[in-house]
Amino acid sequence: MTETYDAIVLGAGAAGLFCAATAGQRGKRVLLLDHADQPGKKILISGGGRCNFTNMHTAPDRYLSSNAHFAKSALSRYTPADFLELVEAYGIAWHEKTLGQLFCDGSAKQIVAMLLEECAKGGVAVHCGDALGEIAHGDGLFRAAFGGRAASAPALVIATGGPSIPKMGATGAAYDLARQFGLKVVQPRPALVPLTLAGDEALFRDLSGVSTEVIARCGKAAFREAALFTHRGLSGPAILQISSYWQRGQTVTTQFLPDRAEGWLREAKRERPRTSLRKVLGEGLPERLVDVLCARLGLSGELGALSDKALAAAEATLARWPFVPDGSEGFAKAEVTAGGIDTGGLSSKTMEARKVPGLYVIGEAADVTGWLGGYNFQWAWASARAAGLAI
Ligand code: FDA
Repeated sequence: MTETYDAIVLGAGAAGLFCAATAGQRGKRVLLLDHADQPGKKILISGGGRCNFTNMHTAPDRYLSSNAHFAKSALSRYTPADFLELVEAYGIAWHEKTLGQLFCDGSAKQIVAMLLEECAKGGVAVHCGDALGEIAHGDGLFRAAFGGRAASAPALVIATGGPSIPKMGATGAAYDLARQFGLKVVQPRPALVPLTLAGDEALFRDLSGVSTEVIARCGKAAFREAALFTHRGLSGPAILQISSYWQRGQTVTTQFLPDRAEGWLREAKRERPRTSLRKVLGEGLPERLVDVLCARLGLSGELGALSDKALAAAEATLARWPFVPDGSEGFAKAEVTAGGIDTGGLSSKTMEARKVPGLYVIGEAADVTGWLGGYNFQWAWASARAAGLAI
């Protein structure tokens, strides 16, 4: 016998849980399906187990999408303050870590428990642990088969996220569904992901574990945060951020010692000619990094013995140290997926597919990707809210 609902939500991650709760609390009968054995698995591992659940500096320009305007409407109608109000209503203690990033004091489990409680308040039927069967559409109804059961509803929400971290149950199911319903997909690619170095640049692997603050740049994008050298290449927040903007073949530059003004090495030479270049660089950079940079610059000895021309060249190189990554660590290590279901076919107010009434796309499945630091969850909440109010 086919069970009937007002909406079937596919994917019990951040977006699916919040959308189901929103619609359920409006009196809609909602079925929430996930093939994983429990809901919200990515929430549980997020933010090192403390879930960076939003960012107070959320703004549309902190999201990548082929359609730069798409996220504006949903983000403006459900803000970080709105989600924070919910978190506080549940008595979940939180703190701002840095750069507007809000984390639970305790555990990400609290966020999942809150979302499940919100679903329970809305009478949402949550079913986890069975593979999704065929999704069919006809006579204004969507039909889903799962675990030997069948359900139908006039609304179907695609909230199955993107393929980053497959071992957490992530799949490209959203894109298959999109194609089934005639929606376009913007080529998905790993984002917020460590970059790999090969060949000559692999020398920097010797620095595995060394971290320093830089300004990482690629094209017009620039992020000032820590960069970390790894045994495969580059990571750390500055690199993860810039990776979302990087395309194969492009150069990423890192500005070491970002607070030093132009001419700083020449000034140091005049003030302290007997001091070595190594010592001066070591005042702001880890020793192991200084050794590699000096070797690469081909400079050593006292500042007074180095020409102004050589020091000016060193300053310029340190301010735009070029790396040409040969790739990234891929979906296995990517925090999110950039690209996804083309927003050109969706309403920015409701997330409904223009050509398929009743079909909605929310969260990471859509071609909207936030910066590192709580922006992706805020998009999940905001897009879920928009769809949950429209169903
Ligand atoms: P999400 O991936 O959460 O949920 C999709 C659901 O669909 C999953 O439950 C999955 O099992 C299910 N599913 C997939 N395929 C299916 C299929 N074929 N059939 C049935 N179900 C299927 N963001 C942030 O803002 N702050 C943070 O602290 C972090 N930290 C973080 C750490 C790590 C390690 C990762 C990998 C990611 C983050 N993120 C993050 C990103 C954040 O987790 C991500 O953007 C959101 O979870 C996206 O929410 P969605 O609900 O769209 O997808």
